[in-house]
Amino acid sequence: MSPLVSAGADVTTASLIGWKPFYVVRGIGVRQVRLFCALILFGYLLSHYINHALGNISLDAMEYGLWFHAAFWQGPVGTLLLYPALAVHASLGLWALYQRRYFRWKTAELVQLLLGLSIPALLCTHLIGERLGITLYGLERHYALALFSFWVARPDLGVMQAVLLLIAWIHGCIGIYFWLRLKPSFSKIAPVLLGLAVLLPALALLGFYQQGRNVRVLAQQPAWRAEVLTPAVIGTAVERDRLIRIRDYFLLFYAGAIGVVFAARGVRRINERRHGMIRLTYPDRTIRVPKGLTVLEASFRHHVPHASVCGGKGRCSTCRIRIIGDEDGLPRPSAREAFVLGRMGGRADPSVRLACQLRPTRDIEIVPLVPSQAGAAFLHGKSRVHPGEERYVVSMFVDMRGSTQRAADQLPFDTVFIVNRFLGAVSQAVTQAGGKVNQYLGDGLLALFGVDSDPRTACRQALKAAALVAENVALLNRQHAEAERIPIRFGIGVNGGEVIVGDIGYGDDISFTALGDAVNVAARLQDMTKELECQLVVSNEVCELAGLQDEAMPRREIRVRGRAAPVVVRTAVEAESVAALFDGITSV
Ligand code: FES
Repeated sequence: MSPLVSAGADVTTASLIGWKPFYVVRGIGVRQVRLFCALILFGYLLSHYINHALGNISLDAMEYGLWFHAAFWQGPVGTLLLYPALAVHASLGLWALYQRRYFRWKTAELVQLLLGLSIPALLCTHLIGERLGITLYGLERHYALALFSFWVARPDLGVMQAVLLLIAWIHGCIGIYFWLRLKPSFSKIAPVLLGLAVLLPALALLGFYQQGRNVRVLAQQPAWRAEVLTPAVIGTAVERDRLIRIRDYFLLFYAGAIGVVFAARGVRRINERRHGMIRLTYPDRTIRVPKGLTVLEASFRHHVPHASVCGGKGRCSTCRIRIIGDEDGLPRPSAREAFVLGRMGGRADPSVRLACQLRPTRDIEIVPLVPSQAGAAFLHGKSRVHPGEERYVVSMFVDMRGSTQRAADQLPFDTVFIVNRFLGAVSQAVTQAGGKVNQYLGDGLLALFGVDSDPRTACRQALKAAALVAENVALLNRQHAEAERIPIRFGIGVNGGEVIVGDIGYGDDISFTALGDAVNVAARLQDMTKELECQLVVSNEVCELAGLQDEAMPRREIRVRGRAAPVVVRTAVEAESVAALFDGITSV
């Protein structure tokens, strides 16, 4: 597996190799290439572990498994996949180490880095002895010889091999965890993956141990040794010497490569300081950093809280920021950044950028758009950015009646309990109908319909939700008939219209909401349910857009506070009755 952990800013494959057609493959960056290579290497490791685990059956089973393992991985396809993947993954790991501008690691990242760095050094003896021996000298390899080497000839190498297997496995598992944890279904498959991650190496090491002991006994027999340890298998002394020398040169080369990376980092640091510093202004502070850092690296370096669920790998979009003022003169988004911004709906607004990808070249003022403590759960629930737009939205206000009186008559615990049950029943109705609960307002809430759908669908969803609210609250009243003397009553106001929607707030308290006269009117219609003695007041426009017949609900004109002209509305004494009106039209 890779010598290095993922880190630093992204460079697209296109920019790395400068080949135009690669721009077509949007979203593929260095990290994606490295991940692809890592998956090939993990596949190899998996196959090797299964082979070791066969040792729990017999030495013959191991040899038999080795035939399949070698047939693929030493065949043309396996060779073409494995060795380039090894070289690319290792090189990109060193590149990431060069790119990383700060060294405040999370524990898992640090473990992955250290394990990854140690793998090439530990692996080279085995790889050069086993694979290069075949290629250069046509040596025959089999499990019996490997086990003899590790358990009889060089037990120290046996321990190193077992440690290597564990290191490579843990390194790979951490990488796979970092990759999969952002997927919405990760929580479902995590227990299975954890089980496999523990079981497979345990079985592999057990198989390795069982047959190691077996070979130790067999090695006492001169006939077995004469049959297994032939020059065709172990090579001549000269061949072995050459292989050891190659191994030593590789170790020197590898140590030198790591040294070069750190030297290059030092040179870059000096250069950056020479080329000047820039100022990054956050809502609550200003910091000075050398040019060349990403905004996220600058935040981390100066302990500015900043969301980064994927750790700066350009995958999660939680580091997104808004540039205040002119964006001119800033580097354009890379293909990867543009891909991620496009995926979460922020590409239309050029002032929204990914902090982990943007390397400002001049002073800028920024506002982080996601609360700094956002985790993977936030990512799964709210990955879209809403920079602000005008669109047709249906607003629905639902309010619980008589909660003040209820609070005066009941214990606080009982009041909170019943209000929460009510809000739960209403929220469930809204979600089931296809809307989104936008704000909880004491004993009521605001729900929005049409954020992701057309106006007609939004109107029908809102009416459907009103009927479901009534149905759910009626059920709630039946469930609490004995404990609650007063049944829960409620009022619903629904209105649609063009409003401004966007992420509004400051710092960690930014949330998506709708602003506009249409929202205010919906709130007033909800108030009017008391005066009109009904559960539901809906603007006529919403009913017409939904396709309800004129006679379906009584129509009337009412005066609404803050509006000069009367508003035409429809009312329903029992909101549940609206459900029947949908029978005649296509379902929502
Ligand atoms: S931190 Fe995940 S995309 Fe920037």
